Amino acid sequence: MSTHQSKHYIGLEEKYGAHNYHPLPVVLSEGRGCYVWDVEGKRYFDFLSAYSAVNQGHCHPKIVAALHEQASKLCLTSRAFYNDALGPYEKYMHDYFGYDKILPMNSGAEAVETALKLTRKWGYLKKGIPENEAIVVACSGNFHGRTITIVSLSSDAEARAEYGPYTPGIEVIPYNNVGALSSLFEEKAASIAGFLVEPIQGEAGVNVPDEGYLKQCHTLCKTYNVLFIADEIQTGIGRTGRMLCCDHEGVRPDIVILGKALSGGVLPVSAVLADDEIMMTIEPGQHGSTFGGFPLACKVAMAALEVVKEERLAEKAEKLGEIFRDAMRAIKSPLISQIRGKGLLNAIVIAPHKGKEAWDLCLKMADNGLLAKPTHGNIIRFAPPLVITEEELMEAIGIIRESIKSSEIAQPVNDI
Ligand SMILES: Cc1ncc(COP(=O)(O)O)c(C=O)c1O
Repeated sequence: MSTHQSKHYIGLEEKYGAHNYHPLPVVLSEGRGCYVWDVEGKRYFDFLSAYSAVNQGHCHPKIVAALHEQASKLCLTSRAFYNDALGPYEKYMHDYFGYDKILPMNSGAEAVETALKLTRKWGYLKKGIPENEAIVVACSGNFHGRTITIVSLSSDAEARAEYGPYTPGIEVIPYNNVGALSSLFEEKAASIAGFLVEPIQGEAGVNVPDEGYLKQCHTLCKTYNVLFIADEIQTGIGRTGRMLCCDHEGVRPDIVILGKALSGGVLPVSAVLADDEIMMTIEPGQHGSTFGGFPLACKVAMAALEVVKEERLAEKAEKLGEIFRDAMRAIKSPLISQIRGKGLLNAIVIAPHKGKEAWDLCLKMADNGLLAKPTHGNIIRFAPPLVITEEELMEAIGIIRESIKSSEIAQPVNDI
C-alpha cells in the first residue's frame, strides 16, 4: 500500500511524533463528502469518518464557507470580552436541543471533564452531598477520553496502566445492566451525584444496549435524585438515526455532552448542555478554556448543525443503516460472527482465528478502496459520513463483501 511518497510521511511521523496511535499505512491528503484521497491520488470510501466527527462529509462547502467568512473577520477573543458570535450560537444551541444553557468547550475529553465537574458541583450545592464525598457512576467498557480523571473511570487496562494515582469518587458497574445500577443506588444513592453513560459504546466496539436500558436507567436516576449524563460525543448529531441517540428511547438526559460532528470535523468544538439548576452552579472563574466558544467555532458549529437538518442526515442514517446491516447479514461469511449497530454506527465482529484477521481485513479493504479500522482487536467499526448516497453505499458494500470473500479463501493458506 505505501509507496515512495507515503513512506516519506509515515517515516516523519515515526521519527518526530509520539507513538500514541497505530494508524493504517495510508497517508491522506484530500477529502470530499464520503471520500478521501491519499498522497498517491488513490480514492477511498472513508468508513471511519474520523471516529464519527465527519458526519456531514469531508470539507462540506457550507461549513467551510462559514469557516472562511469568520476566519477573515474574527477568530478568537477569549472570554475576557464579549463577542458577536457566542451569544447567537448559545441561543441557537438552546433552540436546537432545548436545554437552558450551553457550556462550550473544544475537545470531547474536555467536555466530559466539564460535565463531571458540573455533576460534582450540583451534587454538593443542590443535592447536599457532604464535601468530598460525591460519587460518579460509569460503565465498564466505557470510552470518554484520555484525561487522568477519565482514565480513572475506564476499565481498559491499556488506557489506565501507569497513569495512577487515579481520581477517587468513581464507581464502575457493568454496561447494559439495570440491576447493577439499581443495587448501587440502593446502597449509596445519598452520595451519588451522576450516572455517566454512552447510549451506544462506540470505542468498545459498537455495543448496543438492550432496548429500554436507557429509559430504565433514566427512571432510576429520577427516583434517586441522580443526574443522568449522556456522552453523545460519538452517537450524537444524527449518527444513529436520531439527532441524539437517547431520542430513540425518548430519554431527555440531565446533561448532554457533544463533540466531534458538532463542527462537522472542521474544528475541535465540544459542548455541555444542561438546564439552569445544573449550569448555574458554576460561577465566573470556576471553569473555562481560552478557546471554548471562540467565534470561529460558533459559526462553524451553527453551519454544521444546519447541514444536519437541511440534508436530513439523521433520517438518512436510519434508512441507510438498515440497508447496510441487511447487506452484511447477506454476506453469510464464517469470518463474521456478529453484526450490530444503529443508524450508520455499525460493526462486524470477526470470528477469532489467529488474532490478526480484523487488521488484515482492514488492509485488504484499504487496498480495495475503503478505509475502516479495527477496534478492540477483532471488531471492525463501519461509520461512513452520513452524506453518503445509497448508490455509494452499495458500491462500498461491494468492496467490503469482496474483501471478506477473498479473506475467506486466504484462510487455509494461513493455516499451513
Ligand atoms: C463517547 C466518546 N466520548 C469522548 C470521546 C473523546 O473525545 P476527544 O477525542 O475529542 O477527546 C470520544 C472519542 O472517541 C468518544 O467516542
